[in-house]
Amino acid sequence: MNREAEPATPDGDARDSPAPDGSAADGPYVIAPRRVSFDWRETPLHWIPDEPTATHVINVLHLLLPAGERWFVRVFKEALPLVRDPVLLKDVKGFMGQEATHSAQHAYVLKHLAEQRLDTEPYTRHVDHLFEILLGEKPPFGPPWPPGSWLRFRLGIVAAIEQFTAVLGDWVLRADALDHAGADEVMLDLLRWHGAEEVEHRSVAFDMYQHCGGPDPVRYARRVETMVVAAPVMLWFWARGAAYLIRHDPRLAGRPRYSLREHNRAVAKGLLPTWSELGAAVPRYLRRSYHPSQEGSLRRAVDYLATSPAARAAAGAVGRTALG
Ligand SMILES: [Fe+2]
Ligand SMILES: [Fe+2]
Repeated sequence: MNREAEPATPDGDARDSPAPDGSAADGPYVIAPRRVSFDWRETPLHWIPDEPTATHVINVLHLLLPAGERWFVRVFKEALPLVRDPVLLKDVKGFMGQEATHSAQHAYVLKHLAEQRLDTEPYTRHVDHLFEILLGEKPPFGPPWPPGSWLRFRLGIVAAIEQFTAVLGDWVLRADALDHAGADEVMLDLLRWHGAEEVEHRSVAFDMYQHCGGPDPVRYARRVETMVVAAPVMLWFWARGAAYLIRHDPRLAGRPRYSLREHNRAVAKGLLPTWSELGAAVPRYLRRSYHPSQEGSLRRAVDYLATSPAARAAAGAVGRTALG
């Protein structure tokens, strides 16, 4: 569905669009946070047994998301007064609640890593600097930006990053190789609960950008620009993050560092997404007619959330609260 033709109407989003696998979502879809919690006590450092590279490449999520998703919420809070559409406003508030929960849950994993003598603070300091200073409320340097354009740029960055979180979310829901490799069940549930919610709200940041991004062709040009900025920066932070974790892993002392060869070996086993799967997300996003409701399968995401131990426990907790 072409959102650019009707920027003020959030049609075509996850609320009412059919899932790309052809199944129809049932009626209006409500995006809301789930009050999940995870018990990390039994999760080993190498939560994919004998696969430190795949473990740590995926662990980079825990390095980037606490600060990154907190920043999404701040940027959206700043942009809330610009939202004129009540349906979009509801979706955006649900999105903010989900992202705040994701951020908090990934931060708990960092504590768990620290308890296993893998201190991530020297790395996350750089991530905090990126989101809090370089992408803060005011542009960090250079000539002043025209009014509103710094906020629009940051909304574009959020939408570009959300393209990848939707792709990764759908991937982890399909990644049976992680189960076959004996990956820790609690970590898998965290990744799949989060991935499913990313698929659930895959259209919200894009719709928000389209709604607040001003008229075309500048809005479309900024969509291209923000993806061109976001994709390589993310790749750089990811490679650096994986290298950091492998270098500081106490169980790998003296072993080889992060290498593309080991990474590709894990990809071949299905333990990491393929480069083409990730790369193809970029030209798709740059198509003028693009809308993220085409990404992944909402049906698969909803099905997972119905069986996720953490999401089910959260639903039970909410139900008990209501009864009490
Ligand atoms: Fe998230
Ligand atoms: Fe998200």
